[in-house]
Amino acid sequence: MRSVTKDSITEVFLGYFGPDTDPRLKEIMSSLARHLHAFVKETGLTHAEWRQGIELLERAGAISDEERHEFVLLSDVLGVSSLVDMVHSNPEGTSSSVLGPFHIAGAPEIAYGCDLKRHYGGPLLLVEGCVRAPDGSPVPGARLDIWQTAPNGLYSSQDPEQETYSFHGIMTARADGRYAFTTVKPVSYTVPTDGPVGDILNATGRHPWRPSHLHYIVTAEGYRPLVTEVFPDDDPYLDEDTVFGVRDDLVMTYVEHPAETFPDGFELSGKVKAPYLKVDFDLVLTRA
Ligand code: BEZ
Ligand code: FE
Repeated sequence: MRSVTKDSITEVFLGYFGPDTDPRLKEIMSSLARHLHAFVKETGLTHAEWRQGIELLERAGAISDEERHEFVLLSDVLGVSSLVDMVHSNPEGTSSSVLGPFHIAGAPEIAYGCDLKRHYGGPLLLVEGCVRAPDGSPVPGARLDIWQTAPNGLYSSQDPEQETYSFHGIMTARADGRYAFTTVKPVSYTVPTDGPVGDILNATGRHPWRPSHLHYIVTAEGYRPLVTEVFPDDDPYLDEDTVFGVRDDLVMTYVEHPAETFPDGFELSGKVKAPYLKVDFDLVLTRA
């Protein structure tokens, strides 16, 4: 069409697809165009505002590399990552939650009962639980890729003081589905704010905090991979996670225990001299 108007542009756009366009791509691009066009009209977006948006995307591209994923962070703080997750969540199993940008592939194998805390300061936390199928039966040999920040709130990939895989490890659940390890109690931390996403948070009066959490990717033959995180119920940011990752079933309670109750069979057995925290959290997979 030669004379495009603000009322016809969306229909004109929808008529531009070639006959061989993949149907799903056509569906997604059509919907995206409809919503973007509606957004421009609804807000009366000005040239200056449009330019500001483009510059923000350009800055996100410029700051991104193999380790820094500013577009993912943008999606996270806009709630898009979490929404994609929730649209595809399976009510039968443990809720999934955002992967975040700090997972690193190839973490070392860790044994049942191992210690991730090592020389780091902070409260000792014993984490244990069972990987289960939806009917409650254990999933023997499930693999748990586990990661968290150091007590300074930084992941190893953000912190030159940490070894590459500190607070990262992959454990194989026992034949009874159980997993267990000790670590330092995770801390609340801020998402990176030194880029354009930080500027958006700042300009919109939002804080950059995430409630403390442990990350898991759980895999097992015949089951859907579960990407999730678990949060303690006493974290001050539980109800205001800046990336919208908290779900009711991912909230757990740490219980303090006297040192003398620390169990056998752990790397730290016999070495714990102060009260420690403990949590028992089952992870329920769904069939593939
Ligand atoms: C994380 O939990 O590691 C994370 C998730 C989204 C954005 C930044 C960090
Ligand atoms: Fe995290």
